[in-house]
Amino acid sequence: MKYAHIIGWGKYTPERILTNDEMAAMMDTNDEWIRSRSGIGARHWARKDETLADMATAAAIAAIDHASLSVSEIDMVIVATAIAIFPATACIVQDRLGIPHAGAVDLVVACSGFVYSLAMAGDMIKAGSKNCVLVIGVEKMSSMMNLEDRGTAVLFGDGAGAVIVRGSDQPGGILASVLYADGSGGEDLYLNDKRHLVMNGREVYKFATRAMPAAVKEVMNKVGWRAGQVDVLIPHQANIRIIESSAKVLGIPMEKVFVNIEKYGNTSAASVPLAICEAVEQGRLRSNDKTVLVGFGAGLAWGAIAIIWDVQHPSSKTKQLINRAVFNGSKARTRFRRALRQLGDKLPGRSTLSDKKDKN
Ligand SMILES: CC(C)(COP(=O)(O)OP(=O)(O)OC[C@H]1O[C@@H](n2cnc3c(N)ncnc32)[C@H](O)[C@@H]1OP(=O)(O)O)[C@@H](O)C(=O)NCCC(=O)NCCS
Repeated sequence: MKYAHIIGWGKYTPERILTNDEMAAMMDTNDEWIRSRSGIGARHWARKDETLADMATAAAIAAIDHASLSVSEIDMVIVATAIAIFPATACIVQDRLGIPHAGAVDLVVACSGFVYSLAMAGDMIKAGSKNCVLVIGVEKMSSMMNLEDRGTAVLFGDGAGAVIVRGSDQPGGILASVLYADGSGGEDLYLNDKRHLVMNGREVYKFATRAMPAAVKEVMNKVGWRAGQVDVLIPHQANIRIIESSAKVLGIPMEKVFVNIEKYGNTSAASVPLAICEAVEQGRLRSNDKTVLVGFGAGLAWGAIAIIWDVQHPSSKTKQLINRAVFNGSKARTRFRRALRQLGDKLPGRSTLSDKKDKN
């Protein structure tokens, strides 16, 4: 039987930090309102020219460095994000990292996207169709904010987080998941035709405080854990009040709940992997911890995963250097592959579109 273990994690946050006071200089709001309603103190906003692929690639490189694997081992790239674009961000990341033989797909489920993607990566590995999956959550929420809508503009931020999941015969890793959706609630949180995020805050709050504890309870039942046995709960960082209310319903003390919303706001699909990275950095997520991840948001969609956080790989400097050489060659490699494709059309025996037209 195959098991799926997280073996690397990495994050990227844009340089620009906007405090609540800076938001107050842009719109009619204040630090006290934002903190008391959401727990948010600041958020990172990407540069105008900074793309999802830029942020996703930076987080992926950090995760690959940590995992100490060769990029060629990766056979699938999944990017969780809120907006569908093409080419898929996952394909751009695959090319920039020089991963030779991998599938790549974007998964568009907004705030639940990382939990969905990680659950699907785990299932692919357990089923034997893939063995090493790069899972990234990335968002540029700032590009969707309507600065005239103070009720939402202050809540969201940008960033990226990534993990590497690899197959192993060693029991543990991703144990179980639950994934749900209820599209009838789609109108409570959506992107309008001006590409602005529109939210019915009260309805989303009610949904989130029901969905989060329900998903956590169900996944705990699946693996036979009681609330008292969970070492770390890593929730989607949407709002401190949602997190506290859900933890209370679940009977999990806040000391066991990882929260970093104060620094980042709601980074949608990036929030759970960003929190994973910081929980590890701060020593809050340790070897053999019984860990639950939970996501919820637009769709409406929600889900949870139970994990034993158990595999630690010492990072190898040599592999990091080799990978760095592969990453640095990305532009030249892209040009070479394009040229090869064009040349391929001219080689004897290769039929082209014009040949086909001639024959018809
Ligand atoms: C958005 C949210 C924080 C609003 O909190 P709330 O307590 O419901 O606040 P209300 O909507 O009742 O607004 C109260 C007042 O604050 C005002 N207000 C709204 N945004 C404001 C802001 N940024 N600064 C100051 N005042 C603000 C409103 O205009 C309203 O004023 P009024 O009473 O004079 O009309 C809350 O509904 C929420 O957390 N919802 C869930 C959001 C979420 O997590 N979404 C993502 C899920 S993935």
